[in-house]
Amino acid sequence: MILVTGGAGYIGSHMVWLLIEKGYDVVVIDNLEKGHKKAVLGGKFYNGDLKDKEFLEKVFAENDISAVIHFAASSLVGESVQNPIKYYYNNVYGTLNLVDTMIKHNVKKLVFSSTAAVYGEPENIPILEEDKTQPTNPYGETKLAIEKMLKWMDIAYGLKFVSLRYFNVAGSHPDGIIGEDHNPETHLIPIVLQTALGIREKVIVYGNDYNTKDGTCIRDYIHVVDLCDAHLKAMEYLEKNNKSEIFNLGNGMGFSVMEVIEKASEVVGKKIPYEIGPRRAGDPSILVASSQKAQKLLGWQQKYNSLETIISTAWKWHSTHPHGYEE
Ligand code: UFG
Repeated sequence: MILVTGGAGYIGSHMVWLLIEKGYDVVVIDNLEKGHKKAVLGGKFYNGDLKDKEFLEKVFAENDISAVIHFAASSLVGESVQNPIKYYYNNVYGTLNLVDTMIKHNVKKLVFSSTAAVYGEPENIPILEEDKTQPTNPYGETKLAIEKMLKWMDIAYGLKFVSLRYFNVAGSHPDGIIGEDHNPETHLIPIVLQTALGIREKVIVYGNDYNTKDGTCIRDYIHVVDLCDAHLKAMEYLEKNNKSEIFNLGNGMGFSVMEVIEKASEVVGKKIPYEIGPRRAGDPSILVASSQKAQKLLGWQQKYNSLETIISTAWKWHSTHPHGYEE
């Protein structure tokens, strides 16, 4: 059985769906603080928190778990700056409890959800896994602390992990049956599509005075289904090679905020109103990954890598669920 933590969240719920599609038995845990029960399309569900050791003990005692895919975390950059205690508790302490329980139950394979935020302001574009890691916020700092912790867990207890550093995850299940539903929503593509739906009046573009082709920030958008497929391949890699690794996951292509708005206008067939606002604190101008290591070692190949596919699958979800899982 595969344990998915945070399986009711945006990425976790797509992972649960994909695992079930592929015939895996799945156990899901989520505290439903941000996740949605309705997003979990199958598997055995436990409502609980990684900070609760007794709860974790029960889940591991009741299920024959062979590997863990760990998404559960707090993941808002701005909030992490305001409330670092929450981030160290939920992310670092939560993962420590998880790993402790795994080791007690002799479960020694972990796929960990890390982030591009571990790099901070990049030195080179595209970013390579061995580039300098210097997070500029507690969110990235906690994910990096966990990666370092896992290295020592491997040395001491033989816990093998693959850490996946995601760039900008976007898009939805190709049929739009599950998708992104955050409250508050901070990510660009859902905000642009909510504006197209008239739920928001306009998109505020955070700065057009960056040193980029059109002055707006450039990001590497990766489709959530491709991202989840890389997790499956990471699990297979651990099975086969029994070796810990770190990989970037992105498309290797950068798109500016204005390009995203323009492409979304094309996809939805109408103009999307926007206004240029001030920069958002802490936004690097360009983040683009090199994903060559993942392609080479995991044999991973993106299927949904055009910006158009990313936006049109997201639109399938948003246009049929304008208020997310609420209805
Ligand atoms: N943006 C706008 N207006 C908005 C929202 C976003 O202009 O209303 C811009 C941002 O300034 C940024 C780009 O759109 O340039 C993408 O912003 P997102 O908030 O969608 O994503 P980020 O690149 O800020 O965040 C991503 C991940 C985080 C991770 C971070 C690392 O979602 O989990 O990269 O820097 F921490």
